[in-house]
Amino acid sequence: MAARILVVDADPATLSWLSAKLETEGYAVSAIDNGDAAWQSIVSAPPDVIVLDPTLPDMDGLALVRRVRQDPRYSGIGIVILSRRAEPDDILAGLNAGADHYIRKRPGGDVELIAKIRAQLAQPRKVVAPTAVKRGRVFSFCSGKGGTGTTSVCVNTAYALAALERGAEIVVVDMVFPMGTVALSLGYESPKTVARLTNAVKDQMEPTLVEKFVSQPLRWGFRVLIGANDPQEASNLNVAQVLPLFETLKTMYDYVLVDFGRTLSRISLPVIEMSNGIIVIVTPDISTVRATRTVVEYLEKHDIEPSRLILINNRTVGRVWTTVEDIEREVKLPLNATVPYELEHMTMAINAASPFMAKFPNNSACMTFQDLARLLIERGKKAL
Ligand SMILES: Nc1ncnc2c1ncn2[C@@H]1O[C@H](COP(=O)(O)OP(=O)(O)O)[C@@H](O)[C@H]1O
Ligand SMILES: [Mg+2]
Repeated sequence: MAARILVVDADPATLSWLSAKLETEGYAVSAIDNGDAAWQSIVSAPPDVIVLDPTLPDMDGLALVRRVRQDPRYSGIGIVILSRRAEPDDILAGLNAGADHYIRKRPGGDVELIAKIRAQLAQPRKVVAPTAVKRGRVFSFCSGKGGTGTTSVCVNTAYALAALERGAEIVVVDMVFPMGTVALSLGYESPKTVARLTNAVKDQMEPTLVEKFVSQPLRWGFRVLIGANDPQEASNLNVAQVLPLFETLKTMYDYVLVDFGRTLSRISLPVIEMSNGIIVIVTPDISTVRATRTVVEYLEKHDIEPSRLILINNRTVGRVWTTVEDIEREVKLPLNATVPYELEHMTMAINAASPFMAKFPNNSACMTFQDLARLLIERGKKAL
């Protein structure tokens, strides 16, 4: 089979010239002019070698190089940078980002390029042990009571995060059993669930298996993995594989956002313990506030320090008597943010199978979701 080369260059003339040249050499060539589409192409059909000019319209090409390098799935791909900018500093930056070769774009440069591609393809594939690879941060979303908006906050934070961290790989995992509503609220359907995945494990949880169960990126910029489609399936969940699943997801994606709903249990606790942040959703009614206090106390008892909790006030009710101060005093935690009551709009978004942020981008709740996404980015950075 012909080796596959992905050429990424913002300049259409270079693209067509280089593609023709490499095709004459017998390679199967894909030509792409921006970083986003290049990443999608790498994910859907990983090439053997990437030839890249880092000056791209939508992102810094070196960021793309780093992403490929940091991802265990793509560690074997050769990367050749072809750039007009070839000062020592440029070359150093390119190689530091993880490129295998750096070639100056100039007349006759194609000869050197083809030689480097040949050399690259002749090399045995590099293998990176998954444990040696960084990467993800895990954030758990939970509440003391159903209907507080945990799923809404989780899905919309994922949406905001995808918009802020372009190129980041984000997966939302629905861990509400016996069945959750993440898939429904996004119009996603699949028989591939956590319940089935935990039963499909042979010796140990492997990224290659997990990958088969996680969705492709949805049009909102993140992927989804659903817990179970029905109670029967949920009852078959192999609990022993849940923590290994999240440890594996963490090596595969930049952000793993988990919707636990109000399921605080032996299933969720180990994942909550390994999380970089725990987002607790409260609504301003006394029963939810009390239930939230119980959740916070339970987590504290399990040595999860209050500083790791992010308390969000989701005002799903209109007329209330509870103030921010009441909530903070009862729960004994400062509130990090308040999502305003969005009348029927939040439900309309769910019924339209869109994140609220996609359907009502100008509503004020969107600002809170963005703030929350920024907070997660910051907490994630601290954890690295
Ligand atoms: N800020 C809000 N404003 C208006 N309605 C909301 C808000 N947050 C959630 N809702 C509505 O509350 C209901 C429950 O939300 P959901 O996210 O499913 O909660 P949970 O996952 O905690 O059960 C949904 O109908 C949703 O549209
Ligand atoms: Mg829910």
